[in-house]
Amino acid sequence: MGVEIKVDGLTKSFGKQLIWGDVSLTIPAGEICVMLGPSGTGKSVFLKTLIGLLKPDRGSIVIEGLDIANCSEKELYEVRKLFGVLFQDGAMFGSMTLYDNVAFPLREHTKKSESEIRDIVMEKMELVGLIGAETKLPGEISGGMRKRAGLARALVLDPEIVLFDEPDSGLDPVRTAFLNQLIVDLNAQIDATFLIVTHDINTARTVPDNIGLLYHKHLAMFGPREMLLSSEEPVVRQFLNAQRVGPIGMSEEKDADELAAEQGQELPPLPPIPLQIEPSNGIARRSQRPPGDWCLEHGVVPPSGSFDQNMSMSTGV
Ligand SMILES: Nc1ncnc2c1ncn2[C@@H]1O[C@H](COP(=O)(O)OP(=O)(O)O)[C@@H](O)[C@H]1O
Ligand SMILES: [Mg+2]
Repeated sequence: MGVEIKVDGLTKSFGKQLIWGDVSLTIPAGEICVMLGPSGTGKSVFLKTLIGLLKPDRGSIVIEGLDIANCSEKELYEVRKLFGVLFQDGAMFGSMTLYDNVAFPLREHTKKSESEIRDIVMEKMELVGLIGAETKLPGEISGGMRKRAGLARALVLDPEIVLFDEPDSGLDPVRTAFLNQLIVDLNAQIDATFLIVTHDINTARTVPDNIGLLYHKHLAMFGPREMLLSSEEPVVRQFLNAQRVGPIGMSEEKDADELAAEQGQELPPLPPIPLQIEPSNGIARRSQRPPGDWCLEHGVVPPSGSFDQNMSMSTGV
């Protein structure tokens, strides 16, 4: 089913360094969200705060009625069981086979027998397409396979929420495309709430139901995919469309001179909104909306050429 995560007024700093402030958003149950942002904007810090590994300065994170930013260690221990996390590098134990890596949370957190564990491990290995690789060591396989093994491990306790930290980092475009399809297929199958942190625009443009953009120490925007992809808000427009003209410069923000020089410069038109990736079995996910649905509902004219089957198939952008 998946559960909702309601974040309100969340603020996090390390010492005097503010990472982000006053972040408020609701991650709907069962939907796929992408949190996008330049490197170093605190995306990983955001994920770690959501699972209670880091304490925010202020604000609340409410999951099933419990505020995990302000609860006891015991309550936190319980609520963590709802989460599966795919860390950036897969975070595999190098000396353990993939089988033992995936079985690890079951051996650690449950009293299941080895034969029950075997059934679950093999089921999850099959879900991520790793049957036959059980006896391999993490060092013997490709980065893409390691991510899939990390994903199998994140799924063994049947999480209601799955967090992905840059699942696409370090993968080539083809592997990224396969992984993105796998994420969409998994969401359809296990129906949990997915939050993917990434700086990959193509993933953000094609995978999620909702997109958030962290920029300059705050949440610049959060909402349905079509809302952000048709937005004229300068930071959102620039980042989601990988354009040079806009407030974002090489090192965070452009200075006044640079911005003045851009005055009057014509912005390139918004690129077409691509079709969202659909489950490969052709059956729509529960939270999936038809192409153009949000635009139609809000009287927004999507950029010319949007939702074109051929364009989306050939370029993904
Ligand atoms: N445990 C920590 N202690 C102090 N500073 C940290 C810690 N973790 C992250 N940071 C700082 O927080 C900022 C955001 O980091 P991070 O969340 O890793 O960015 P992103 O994942 O968006 O690339 C960085 O400046 C980083 O140095
Ligand atoms: Mg990170």
